[in-house]
Amino acid sequence: MDTIVQEPPYVRLSDLGDHVGQRVTVKGWLTHHRSKGKIAFLVVRDGTGLVQGVVFRPDVAEELWQKAEALTQESSLALSGVVKAEPRAPGGFELAVDGLCVFQLTQDFPISPKEHGVDFLMGYRHLWLRSKRQHAILKVRAAIIRAMRGWMDRNGFLLVDAPILTPAACEGTSTLFETDYFDEKAYLTQSGQLYAEAAAMAFGKVYTFGPTFRAEKSKTRRHLTEFWMLEPEAAFADHDDNLRLQEQFVAGVVQEVLANCREELAILERDVTRLEAVQAPFPRLTYDEAVRILQEAGHAIQWGDDFGAPDETLLAERFDRPVFVTHYPRQCKAFYMKVDPARPDVVRCADLLAPEGYGEIIGGSQREDDLETLRARMAEAGVPEEGMEWYLDLRRYGSVPHSGFGIGLERTVAWICGLEHVRETAPFPRMLTRLHP
Ligand code: 4AD
Ligand code: MG
Repeated sequence: MDTIVQEPPYVRLSDLGDHVGQRVTVKGWLTHHRSKGKIAFLVVRDGTGLVQGVVFRPDVAEELWQKAEALTQESSLALSGVVKAEPRAPGGFELAVDGLCVFQLTQDFPISPKEHGVDFLMGYRHLWLRSKRQHAILKVRAAIIRAMRGWMDRNGFLLVDAPILTPAACEGTSTLFETDYFDEKAYLTQSGQLYAEAAAMAFGKVYTFGPTFRAEKSKTRRHLTEFWMLEPEAAFADHDDNLRLQEQFVAGVVQEVLANCREELAILERDVTRLEAVQAPFPRLTYDEAVRILQEAGHAIQWGDDFGAPDETLLAERFDRPVFVTHYPRQCKAFYMKVDPARPDVVRCADLLAPEGYGEIIGGSQREDDLETLRARMAEAGVPEEGMEWYLDLRRYGSVPHSGFGIGLERTVAWICGLEHVRETAPFPRMLTRLHP
C-alpha cells in the first residue's frame, strides 16, 4: 500500500492551544528573526496571535535552514511542525519547524523597529496597521462597536440606517462637505439625527450608526473630518430619560469592553482602574454651575460662551467618571433642541464630558416637538425651511416628546484606549491635512 503524506492542517495562531503535540501548518508574516548557532527562531504573526518557530539545523534539510536564514521582516510564509506549549515564547507556543514555504521574501519593509515620526507612520498607515499597538487599538475599536450595538439591540432599539448623501445641514452650515448631485447640491451627512427622529416616530426606539462628515478646519487632537457616530432616538422620552439612557449605555459599554479587551488594554498600558470607576449614575452640572466653576478657577469665560477644550478638561477633572453638563444657552446649540419652558434662555440638552481630558464624547438633547416653536428656532438660527418640510411634518402628524444623543466613536476609542490623539483610532483617519492613503 502507498503511504500518502498528509499536509498538516492549517491552524490560525489563536487556536494553537487546541493543537499541542500535533503537527500543524501556520501562515503569517515574520516579525522577528534571530539565530544562535544551530538554532533559528522565527517569530510569526498572523493577526490572531504570535508563534515562535524553532528551526534546529541538525534536524532539517540544509535547504530549509538556508531559506530560514534568509528571511526578512514581514516576509510572508507558512511553517509546519509540532506545537509545544512554551510560556517563555512570544505567544506562549513554539513550533518545531520541519517545513517552510515562503510566499514572498520582503525587501526593505519601510517600518523598522526603530522610532518613527507620526507623520511618517501616517503616510504608511496601510503598513503601520500591522504593528502590535495599532492592532490592539483597532481590536478595541471593534469591541466598542460590538458592545455599543449589542447594548442597543438588547435594549429594544432598532437599527435604522440614515442616508449619507443629504439635501440639508443638521449641525450648521460651516462644516459641510458639498458635492454635486446631478442638478442639485448635496452634502455629506453631519449626523443621522433628523432621520433617526423620523424613524423613532415609526418604531419608538431606534439608533443610527454610520460615518458622518464635518469639514472641520480645526487641527486638534479630537477632530476628524470623517468619524462614526451612534445616534439613538426615543419617542416618549424627556431630558431626564435621555441622561439615564446615556449613563446606563456608556457604563455598560465600558464595562463590557474592559471584560473583553484586557490583553489589548495591557498592550496599550491603559490604567484600567480609571475605567473600572465608570459606573452609573454620572454626576451632573448645569451650564450655569460650570461657568461659575470655570470663572472661580480663573478661566476667561462669560455666560453665553461655548466651552473650549481646556474648560472641558478642568470640569471633567473634578470627577472620576464622565460628567454631564446640561442646559446650555440656546445660542450655543442647534435649532432642534427643546427650549426649557422654565428657563427660555437655555435648552434641555447635555454634553457628556469624558474624564482624563478627553472632552465631549456625547452631544444630545430633548427635541423641540412644537411646530411653531421649531419654526421660530429655525428662523432664529438661519436654517431655511426649504428641504426641511419633511422634518417639520414630524411635528404635524402625531408629534410627541422625544430625545436622543450622538456618541462619537473615535473619541470614545481614544478615551477607552488612553490615546493622545484620535488619529490612531480609525484604520484610515481623515483629517484636515490627511486624505492619503
Ligand atoms: O455634538 P454633536 O455635533 O451632536 C450631533 O451631531 C447630534 N446630531 C447628535 C444627536 O443628538 N443625535 O456630535 C456628537 C458627537 C460629539 O460629542 C463627538 O463625540 C463626536 O460626535 N464628534 C466628533 N468626533 C470626531 N471628530 C469630529 N470632528 C467630531 N464632531 C463631533
Ligand atoms: Mg457637540
